[in-house]
Amino acid sequence: MSADIFARVQGILDAIQSEKIENVTELEAFRIKYVGSKNEIKSLFGEIKNVENDRKKEFGQLLNDVKQAAEEKYEALKTTLEEASGNNSGSDIDLTSPCEPMPSGSRHPVSIVLNRIISIFERIGFTVAEEREIEDDWHNFTAMNTPEDHPARDMQDTFYLKDSTTELLRTHTSSVQARIMTAQKPPIRIIAPGRVYRNETISSRSHCQFHQVEGLYIDKGVSFADMKQTLLYFAREMYGEQTNIRLRPSFFPFTEPSAEMDVYWGLNNEDDYRITKGTGWLEILGCGMVDPNVLINCGIDPNEYSGFAFGMGIERQAMLQFKITDIRQLFENDTRFLKQFSGVI
Ligand code: PHE
Repeated sequence: MSADIFARVQGILDAIQSEKIENVTELEAFRIKYVGSKNEIKSLFGEIKNVENDRKKEFGQLLNDVKQAAEEKYEALKTTLEEASGNNSGSDIDLTSPCEPMPSGSRHPVSIVLNRIISIFERIGFTVAEEREIEDDWHNFTAMNTPEDHPARDMQDTFYLKDSTTELLRTHTSSVQARIMTAQKPPIRIIAPGRVYRNETISSRSHCQFHQVEGLYIDKGVSFADMKQTLLYFAREMYGEQTNIRLRPSFFPFTEPSAEMDVYWGLNNEDDYRITKGTGWLEILGCGMVDPNVLINCGIDPNEYSGFAFGMGIERQAMLQFKITDIRQLFENDTRFLKQFSGVI
């Protein structure tokens, strides 16, 4: 009888020693079988009473050896297996190594210049008004005092929508003036950035789509001097605090009097001569006092209110600032070109 039980215990000891454990699941099975609260060895301690008295001690000793062998094997495997699965999560990523820099995108040069212009005017109380690019000819032309036989309406310049003589792609952001003046009461102080379209042959200097920023200020007693001071402030914020401007008389159907504003760019090198056609001056925008007819067309009493408006192109300013020689590059979205502006805001 007792020989049997000795053999059984010995068999368990052999099994413990030879058990192959390769992962935490197998280790857990081993723990439940030999180490846990209901382990196989425990029940054998109850067998002591069946062993002959002179071998009781030997049997007890053997059981203790088995118990110890199981516990030691369990502890040793636990440490090695947990290290392998826990700390390393099964991969060889080194969490302490410095990370790869994330490639960041870049702003488009047109957006960079546009954002600068917007922030300059926002600082003096102008708010941004964005409007539709598909317009009707009343907002784009008629309201803006541009008579039906005006050359600006020519099919050569304006993109009309298919089969339409009244729906068109706006040719300037001045259409936003009409949109705002018919919808809001003065005082009005807005800038309207956006895309405009003209049916022009695409070359290095002109494109059939480009961007403008319109400005409009309507209130009681707004004068030409207010406009001049506002534009001087803009020119100095945009081109440096020493910048000088000049206003040349001009003509637009929707302003009276009208002017074009130049900033003094300088004549320091060959490039300056080429860019300014030898004059040192650069034309930046068109402007003027809002024509009373425009106010009337939009339901504003010209005896009560007056105002000024201005409009400028963005592409040319972006080309000047970033020394871009071909306007088409601004519309091609070639990442080799755009990448150069990463980090510029
Ligand atoms: N709309 C004119 C243009 O496209 C610019 C302009 C705007 C002139 C407002 C005067 C007042 O050339």
